[in-house]
Order: sequence, then C-alpha cells, then structure tokens
Amino acid sequence: MAKILFFLFLVLLMGALGAGNINFSDEVILSKLEDLDAEEGDEADFFDLPRWGADRGNKILVNVDSFGAVGDGSSDDTKAFVDAWKQACSTPKSVFLVPAGRSYLVNATRFRGPCAGRLRVQIEGTIIAPDDPKNWDFTKNGRIWLGFFNLTGALFQGGGVIDGSGSKWWAASCKKNKTNPCVAAPTALTIYTSSGIKVKDITIQNGQQMNFVISRSDSIQINGVKVSASEDSPNTDGIHITESTNVVLQNSRIGTGDDCVSIVNASSNIKMKRIYCGPGHGISIGSLGKDNSVGIVTGVVLDNAFLKGTTNGLRIKTWQGGSGYVRGVRFQNVMMQDVSNPIIIDQFYCDSPKSCQNQTSAVEISEIVYRNVSGTSKSRNVIKFACSDNVPCSHIVLNNINLETRDGTAEVYCNSATGIGYGYIHPSAECLNSSDKKIEQKMDAELDEPREEYIVHSEL
Ligand SMILES: *[C@@H]1O[C@H](CO)[C@@H](O)[C@H](O)[C@H]1NC(C)=O
Ligand SMILES: *[C@@H]1O[C@H](CO)[C@@H](O)[C@H](O)[C@H]1NC(C)=O
Ligand SMILES: *[C@@H]1O[C@H](CO)[C@@H](O)[C@H](O)[C@H]1NC(C)=O
Ligand SMILES: *[C@@H]1O[C@H](CO)[C@@H](O)[C@H](O)[C@H]1NC(C)=O
Ligand SMILES: *[C@@H]1O[C@H](CO)[C@@H](O)[C@H](O)[C@H]1NC(C)=O
Ligand SMILES: *[C@@H]1O[C@H](CO)[C@@H](O)[C@H](O)[C@H]1NC(C)=O
Ligand SMILES: *[C@@H]1O[C@H](CO)[C@@H](O)[C@H](O)[C@H]1NC(C)=O
Ligand SMILES: *[C@@H]1O[C@H](CO)[C@@H](O)[C@H](O)[C@H]1NC(C)=O
Repeated sequence: MAKILFFLFLVLLMGALGAGNINFSDEVILSKLEDLDAEEGDEADFFDLPRWGADRGNKILVNVDSFGAVGDGSSDDTKAFVDAWKQACSTPKSVFLVPAGRSYLVNATRFRGPCAGRLRVQIEGTIIAPDDPKNWDFTKNGRIWLGFFNLTGALFQGGGVIDGSGSKWWAASCKKNKTNPCVAAPTALTIYTSSGIKVKDITIQNGQQMNFVISRSDSIQINGVKVSASEDSPNTDGIHITESTNVVLQNSRIGTGDDCVSIVNASSNIKMKRIYCGPGHGISIGSLGKDNSVGIVTGVVLDNAFLKGTTNGLRIKTWQGGSGYVRGVRFQNVMMQDVSNPIIIDQFYCDSPKSCQNQTSAVEISEIVYRNVSGTSKSRNVIKFACSDNVPCSHIVLNNINLETRDGTAEVYCNSATGIGYGYIHPSAECLNSSDKKIEQKMDAELDEPREEYIVHSEL
C-alpha cells in the first residue's frame, strides 16, 4: 500500500515538475507528504500499549506518575523521572511511560543505558525544560538537557512533546543581541552512543539551541517526527546528525531558526525521505572544516522534499582551511517555494562575527547529484557553486532542474566547479565546467544503482 501511494506521489510530483508552472499550494503538497504511510519494516514492534496499570500483557509499565511525578508544569519532576528510568531500564520488557494530558518539568537529565531489554519510551504527555538560562549548570550538564546514552534497540514513540522552553536562551544569544556574550546553549533531545533506535511520532520544540541531536550512533530510524521552533530562534538546528551512520529520517516536518537537518563530520549512509522544511536554513551538509579540522561526510540521499521560505535549499557548507571530503550525495525530487539559494555549495562558509581569512586548503566536494529539483527562488542565484580554486568541486551532476525567481531573473554562479548537466536545466548552467562526459555518465549510472558503501541498510 505504502509503495503504491509513494508511487502515486511520485507521479503527481513529476507531473507537477513537468508542467513547469505549478501551484505550490501548501496543503496539497503537505497532504501528499503526510498522507503517505511509512514502511516500517518491523511493524510488530509498534505494539498496542496498555494504557495504565502495571504488568499488562507481557509488558511492564513504568509510569513516571507512580514515582511521584506531578505533571503540573511547575513542580520539579526530575527525581520521579530518574527513579522511573532506573526501574524501567533495569526491567526487561518495560515501558517507560510519560502519560498524556500533563506537562512534566524536568531538569537536565542523562538517561543511561544499557538497559535490560529493548526499552520502550512512551512519551504521550509533554516534558518541559526549566526556562531560565541562569540556573543552567554547564559544568554538570554540558549542553545536554534530555540525553539518552548507550541504548540498544530502544523505541521512542507516543505522540507527545519534548519542549526545550528556549525563548530566554534565544534572547540571551549573541546572535540576537551583540552585547550578549557568545555562549553555547543546550540541545533539547540528544541520542548518544546508541544503536538500533527508532523514534516515531514525537514533537520536539523550542530547543534551547539544537532541537534534536544524533551523535556517535548507528542504525537510527526517525519517522513522523515534528520539529518546531521560532523562525528567528538562533542556531536551533532541527535534526543534527554527527559521527553517526545508517540514519533514516522520513515523513518529518521541520520548521526552525537554523538548518532543518544538518549532517556533519564522520557521518555516512544518511537517508532522508519525505521531508518538509520551513521555515529554516534548509537541508545542510556541514558545516565542515572549521578551525582547520577534518570533515568527512559520505553517502547522503534526500528523496522527496518540500522546502518553503527557507534561507537556503540544498546546501553543502565548508570553512576555508579544512580538509577531508564530502562525497556521494544525491538530492532528488525536491520542490521549493520562495527559497533563497535553492542549490548551494559554499566552500567559503564563515559563520563568524569576524571575516574569515583566505586559506588554500578546503574540504573536497565531489559526486553531488541534483535531480528533479524545481520551484521558486527568492535569490537571483538559484544555483551557486562557490568552490575553492585550489580544491575545486568535481563530478557535479545536474539533471532536470527548473528553478526560477518570481520576476524571471534566475542565474547560476560557479567558481571552480566541474561536472555535467543533462535533461532539462533551467536556468542553463553553462558555467559548470564540463568534465569528461563519458566518465560523468558512467558515474551517474553508478549512482543510480548506489554503490554498496552508499546504501542505507535499513528497510524503508
Ligand atoms: C525524475 O523525474 C522523472 C520524470 O520527470 C522520473 O521519470 C524519474 O524517475 C525521476 N527521478 C528520480 C530519481 O526519482
Ligand atoms: C494556488 O492554490 C491556492 C490554494 O488552493 C489558491 O488560493 C491560489 O489562487 C492558487 N494559485 C494559482 C496561481 O493558481
Ligand atoms: C532542578 O533545578 C532547580 C533549579 O536549578 C533546582 O532548584 C532543583 O533542585 C533541581 N532538581 C533536582 C532534582 O536536581
Ligand atoms: C556509555 O558507555 C561507555 C562505554 O561503556 C562508557 O564509557 C560511558 O561512560 C557510557 N556513558 C554514559 C553516559 O553512561
Ligand atoms: C541587548 O542587551 C543589552 C544588555 O543586556 C540591553 O541593554 C539591550 O537593551 C539589548 N538590546 C536589544 C535590542 O534587545
Ligand atoms: C572528523 O572525524 C574524523 C574521523 O572520521 C576525525 O578524525 C576528526 O577528528 C573529526 N573532526 C572533528 C572536527 O571532530
Ligand atoms: C580572499 O579571496 C577573495 C577571492 O579571491 C578576494 O576577493 C578577497 O579579497 C580575499 N580576501 C582576503 C582577506 O585576502
Ligand atoms: C574551466 O576549465 C578551464 C580549463 O580547465 C579553465 O581555463 C576555466 O577557467 C574554467 N572555467 C571555470 C568557470 O571554472
């Protein structure tokens, strides 16, 4: 069923792309993105949860309320959560339950595994963070509000909300007010050194800084997650993936003040499917190479996305002076509406109050495919390949691109970028320095059948 729906969606999407002049009515596209079932792989995991009481069926329900949580949004429920976690984590077949209809105030907490079994974390209600940056203890908590560590095979679900109460943090940011000192702020939800994790139907909102971070983890599936923070909230990346492999993110809607998704160093095999992004800074690989560091990202696929009103679309950003590489990236079936910089590679990224010095080394960028990308741009440069003279971008493929500004003045900018374009390309990307066509087409054919190392092994 899901396959058929997905196919239908593709047909509709392609029909729209072919028509050239399409009506990006939010509702229509959203409903297409959202009405699609996700193929879960092992649906059996998503069991019917007993609502209340302990030990129904063969699941042991560990309810935070049974440990004294009040859930009135103002009482400190931290201890109840910690105690309930200890119980749930040490009990096989348990369900850590945050009940619906209440709001639990919880301080920075590290929920540590490994646990006795494949723990289910059922968040039906709301978990909120204390809102005052003054009470945050960086020495003790670092940048982690709710952190889950060393878990294997855990499942997060329940339709509930994780709320970082970030507004005071945002106001205290040096990006909001230059007289403020530039200090880091916490991440709302972090999954760290874990594997085989599924996160399904959870809302993460108002992150103090980043909303949801996946770090040093493997085999992570995120499905039907919603991320939401104010458009002008600083550095509030939606989903940030770092040092992680085999991550599948699908059917998710992200609106925030920074990148909807950011994929940074030591990450590979990242697959994103059916993503709505906006507002925000787009879907980003990077930044990489800051402070002359090594940055490596390989094997990223984005398939079926709608970006609306974002300040960038599909972006790869690296700092001058870095090293390492970004290789094997495919962006396909993407629609944009009023997006600035719809397609951008920026090897001169400089997110710093001071201007950045010119340097010769750079993170190398190659094998980047853009296919079936269309829509409207707010900036004149609809395609921008700003690549370093010393480390050019290579093997860039453009295929079936239709990007235009409202007033029909779209342009393409390239510096030091080689690759090919074929099929319909508007505006024509003549500045993309064509390299050997045979090699390019061969490479493109190979990317169609992704090489083993780029295949995401999780079932979609
Ligand atoms: C791109 O769009 C064309 C139709 O315009 C479609 O046949 C093709 O399958 C699409 N490519 C991908 C990779 O989905
Ligand atoms: C696009 O769809 C919206 C909502 O259905 C409608 O209000 C608008 O007039 C349409 N625009 C065009 C150009 O057809
Ligand atoms: C939670 O934070 C508040 C404010 O800093 C503090 O007063 C309280 O003791 C903390 N609760 C726990 C259980 O540590
Ligand atoms: C996670 O496991 C590693 C290796 O066993 C350990 O060093 C680390 O302290 C654990 N992290 C937490 C937060 O418990
Ligand atoms: C910036 O912060 C300073 C010091 O906290 C404050 O006096 C000033 O009103 C703030 N400016 C704005 C525009 O909020
Ligand atoms: C990036 O990851 C590589 C390992 O793949 C590591 O050697 C390097 O130190 C990392 N860079 C940063 C900035 O952490
Ligand atoms: C860096 O290089 C650019 C382009 O070559 C040049 O326009 C700019 O002046 C240089 N900046 C510095 C600080 O050397
Ligand atoms: C394209 O390549 C040729 C030869 O390698 C070079 O002379 C030219 O400057 C390049 N053009 C661009 C726009 O990079």
